[in-house]
Amino acid sequence: MRYVSMGQVPPKRHTQFRENGTLLVEEVMGYEGFSGNESILYHLQSPCRVSEVGEFTPRVLEEWVPDAHVHRLTDTTRVAPGGDPITGRRVLMFNGDVEMAIAKPTEETEAFFRNGEGDEVLFIHEGVGEIETTFGTLPYGPYDYVVIPRGTTYRVRMHSAPQTWFCFYTPGEIETPNRYRNRYGQLLEHAPYSQRDFHAPADLVTHRERGESEVVVRVRGGYQRFTLDYHPLDVVGWDGYVYPYTFDIRDFEPKAGRLHQPPPAHQTFQGPGFVICSFCPRMLDWDPLAVPLPYHHSNLQSEEVMYYVEGNYAARRGVDVGSITLHPSGLPHGPQPGAVENALGAKSTDEMAVMCDTFRPLKLTTLARDLDDPGYALSWYDEPATAPA
Ligand SMILES: [Fe+2]
Repeated sequence: MRYVSMGQVPPKRHTQFRENGTLLVEEVMGYEGFSGNESILYHLQSPCRVSEVGEFTPRVLEEWVPDAHVHRLTDTTRVAPGGDPITGRRVLMFNGDVEMAIAKPTEETEAFFRNGEGDEVLFIHEGVGEIETTFGTLPYGPYDYVVIPRGTTYRVRMHSAPQTWFCFYTPGEIETPNRYRNRYGQLLEHAPYSQRDFHAPADLVTHRERGESEVVVRVRGGYQRFTLDYHPLDVVGWDGYVYPYTFDIRDFEPKAGRLHQPPPAHQTFQGPGFVICSFCPRMLDWDPLAVPLPYHHSNLQSEEVMYYVEGNYAARRGVDVGSITLHPSGLPHGPQPGAVENALGAKSTDEMAVMCDTFRPLKLTTLARDLDDPGYALSWYDEPATAPA
């Protein structure tokens, strides 16, 4: 991330900073102890101040252990809209590094939320709105990745319906890949995006009103509620490298080549034990003998999850917008029969998809079971081969 400063900050860190005579409360919010990226925020109130400790509600993921280990197709269009922007996230797959969920929120909450145990990425498939945060107001719309660092107190205001989000949570840190950066952290010329494509909050709004508010903190596998006697978005100014931001998938500059480009060419973010990739409309391989679809590959050490956003995904049969495919480790996968012949000579593709590859096996939830298409495992099975006469 780049350095951003919003609102009022004093010229020197850790010095007296007053507003109308009142000493403001400085909060350093950083990763890796005091060795990672950080921001410094100046609050009207101590961010520790709570008037009441509410209840703790454990988060329960209902795991589904399937009878068979096969490729899976999940139809998320069958998920009914409902819930709020936090508890309405319905987890489909998870491991110790990442959770993937579908959310179609319809209800706003007055309560604020803070993820106290991980970073979040929301891929906004449908919906417009804004996220009110301690760092300011972050507008979002379709095609945005919204990256929310842990520790950010926020509340979502939805301005349209429907809202459809593909959501990631990680106990690790969401980053852009190291290989896109120089030794100072600046994005390199060959990176598929530049610092200009990452959008910090648009406005910092300092709430001075008193009165009761509620903050729900995801921590230790559950939700801890607190009551405050002030508005938690009380920041007068902040600066640093940690803040929520958006990145529009349409600003990803896809790579094309004479021959097929492998998934790392599409990498957008990384976290510990997983990557997030963006498959965007692009020109296809231009060698006269090129095979423009992926070659068959064996995921020896990874699981591939693909969420289909729009366009026609030529390599996959029966896959439509809102589908998710899971190609787990241990099994080879590739285009279905006929797909390669049909694609030969194609000059471009209009596919758009978000992929998450994990290095550790994924577990499934009962929601994934309910949306599962058991026929997908057999979708490479063509007509029985006829014996030569
Ligand atoms: Fe693949």
